[in-house]
Amino acid sequence: MHNEQQLAGGLFYLGGNDRRIALFESAYPVPRGVSYNSYLLIDEKIAVIDTVDNAVGDLFFENLAHALAGRQPDYLVVQHMEPDHAATFARFVEKHPAVTVVTSQKAAVMLKNYFGFAGQLLLVKEGDALPLGRRTLTFVGAPMVHWPEVLFTYVPEDGILFSADAFGTFGALAGSVFADRDVFEKEFLDDARRYYFNIVGKYGVQVQNVLKKAAGLKLSLVCPLHGPVWREGFAWYLEKYLTWSAYAPEEKCVAVFYASVYGHTQNAAEIVASAIAERGVRVKVYDVSVTDRSILLAEAFRCSHAVFASTTYNNGIFVSMEQFLGDLKAHAFQNRAYAVIENGSWAPQAGGLMEETLSAMKNMRRIGDKVTVLSSVHEDGADALIALGRLVAEDVANN
Ligand code: FEO
Repeated sequence: MHNEQQLAGGLFYLGGNDRRIALFESAYPVPRGVSYNSYLLIDEKIAVIDTVDNAVGDLFFENLAHALAGRQPDYLVVQHMEPDHAATFARFVEKHPAVTVVTSQKAAVMLKNYFGFAGQLLLVKEGDALPLGRRTLTFVGAPMVHWPEVLFTYVPEDGILFSADAFGTFGALAGSVFADRDVFEKEFLDDARRYYFNIVGKYGVQVQNVLKKAAGLKLSLVCPLHGPVWREGFAWYLEKYLTWSAYAPEEKCVAVFYASVYGHTQNAAEIVASAIAERGVRVKVYDVSVTDRSILLAEAFRCSHAVFASTTYNNGIFVSMEQFLGDLKAHAFQNRAYAVIENGSWAPQAGGLMEETLSAMKNMRRIGDKVTVLSSVHEDGADALIALGRLVAEDVANN
């Protein structure tokens, strides 16, 4: 049964929720599900903005058919070719063979490569305008947010921005399609941050470029491809994007990450965390072998400071910590202060190797010297860990 929702006069939400999906992009756990959004603009001409993932394909076509009420769409705007949006493209053009596909040059190549599509195309680029009647579609280039072909679509008459993956979030929608700022902060912000850093975090410069363009636009509705539609309070969310894409910390806090085999490195990490918390600084502690890396990554970016503690393993960094550091590097982790703790029963190596990886990242500042634990923490070793914790806490307070 169809369940489209009217967002404004002539503007409909056609998407749906997938609460059964375990891993988004086969990589990121989404215990709260995810929504795939598509939009329909009915004017003298009719345009659909993106299709949806196969998971909600049937509902999407029911929504579309009901909202169209026998009419045919003139345009299908393909803003982003990733299959969580474009998977149902072939089915769409089969159902609506007269439709003109409006997209970027790069997306047209992908349409051919994915679907062998050789139908009617209208190639558009930044600054182009496509009149629908009372409303006009204009296009904004958004390369690498999150693929190179991406376009945003903007309706200047009403200030409606279709923002592709930008401003999206994990988490299915609950009844209403609209974002409520307070509910979003409580229920979606952690997922939105995790979505941002894991999906587009690497491309902060490109995100900043497109945010500069968006800053000049009148915005009454922001319609992303995942998560709720913004009609009020958007400035708050835009501010988050400005912070995240600048790789600036969102909060003055410390994330303590440890990799421990038998609990001794955990003990060291928790002694440091207690010394930090004792000074009134907010601290979170994560076992990197247990917590999903997408959460670790988002937490590392949220906090101004990090402590990395790892046991030595196979003469190197313990595998889960090594993978986490690799993920941080791949997502352009930078601009943070950090401290290092290592453990080793006969030849501690992990600390030096972690420092090597972290210091090679942009604008990283180490606090204190690495603390070495030999097998387990003793009184004198605890003193060094407490001193390191206090140093980190002072650094948080002073920076
Ligand atoms: Fe939601 Fe880049 O796809």
